[in-house]
Amino acid sequence: MEVRRRTFDSAGNEKKSIDKTSSQPVTDSTTLGRRKFLSMGIGTIGAIIGLSYVGLFGKFMWPESALAASKLQDVGSVGKFPVNTPTLVGYKGAGTEEGVYVVNLGSEGFIALDFHCTHLECNVIWVPAIKQFMCPCHGGSFDIKGTVLFGPPPKPLHRRMVKIEGDNVLLGVRLV
Ligand code: FES
Repeated sequence: MEVRRRTFDSAGNEKKSIDKTSSQPVTDSTTLGRRKFLSMGIGTIGAIIGLSYVGLFGKFMWPESALAASKLQDVGSVGKFPVNTPTLVGYKGAGTEEGVYVVNLGSEGFIALDFHCTHLECNVIWVPAIKQFMCPCHGGSFDIKGTVLFGPPPKPLHRRMVKIEGDNVLLGVRLV
């Protein structure tokens, strides 16, 4: 890097010279660009760390259960759901309507099962004659509690949050 220095001869006249070994700080445009880039990078990292703390603060202030509870949807009175007869209802908690089977298991209480097959997400159908959920796509089947009985589904039907409040059945977000 070249740096110009002011030097004078014995008569006091200024001589122009170039010092190629100077250790003076260099301020050319490339270095400025690098410095600006580094400071912007550090600023960005700081912003990301700051935002993650905001997220943690939000989780502390509004825990998951409170958020889930805010998405509860009333799907009707308890009497609308006969014992051991899964009833298909629509759940709009997440914006788009999703099918959910509400199952009244009598003394065992209520469960709610997502109607998407756990193989490739086809919609399962409750078949009263054989008391099973059947998947029309690849022949998977599940019992009334969503346990896999046959076929390619790798796991039980997903459960939904379900709550009885007074005489009403409330549905919530997917649990598993
Ligand atoms: S999608 Fe249900 S068995 Fe394949």
